[in-house]
Amino acid sequence: MARQDQSAATAADLYLDLLKRALGGMLWAEELFVPASWSELTDLKHRAFREVVRLAARRGIAVLRRRPLDVETRELGTDWPLLAQTMIGLRRLDNVQWCVETALAEGVPGDLIETGVWRGGATILMRGILEARGDTRRRVWVADSFAGLHVRVNDGRADGAIPEALGRRVRDHR
Ligand SMILES: C[S@@+](CC[C@H](N)C(=O)[O-])C[C@H]1O[C@@H](n2cnc3c(N)ncnc32)[C@H](O)[C@@H]1O
Repeated sequence: MARQDQSAATAADLYLDLLKRALGGMLWAEELFVPASWSELTDLKHRAFREVVRLAARRGIAVLRRRPLDVETRELGTDWPLLAQTMIGLRRLDNVQWCVETALAEGVPGDLIETGVWRGGATILMRGILEARGDTRRRVWVADSFAGLHVRVNDGRADGAIPEALGRRVRDHR
């Protein structure tokens, strides 16, 4: 709850609380991960496993790792969600809610915008807040490259740290 305690929660408060948890991928106890890097898997056992994965992939089957959701990490927004619509975590979603609701309560005019939306979760929350609080006038804008982070290329070598974290390969950004 961003502005009211549980005892005073209205249906709109409860909706927004559920929306934040859904957008942050916190309604499930675990996530499934495609093994991120095959480069460490060099011994025979791992080579056999890679072959199983390769054969499965040819039949449209993906081999995934199960990983328990670390609730504290997700609340802080310091992990990289596989499926959630936002990576910023519950605490910063609370802050987005506080900012929007403060603007509404204090009559601050104007539309809302998120710059750098990734999968749009924080923007979806802003729309949900306006809907839940009965504001039908404001528009919500999104801005993004929709192609990941800009990559600097020096001497033909790109800095791969950021786009790799985005799950894209450096060459896709050149
Ligand atoms: C850390 S993510 C944003 C996370 C998002 N706010 C959320 O709620 O999960 C950064 C986003 O900024 C975008 N971005 C980074 N540099 C950009 C640029 N120069 N122009 C436009 N978009 C950019 C990326 O495509 C990416 O979607």
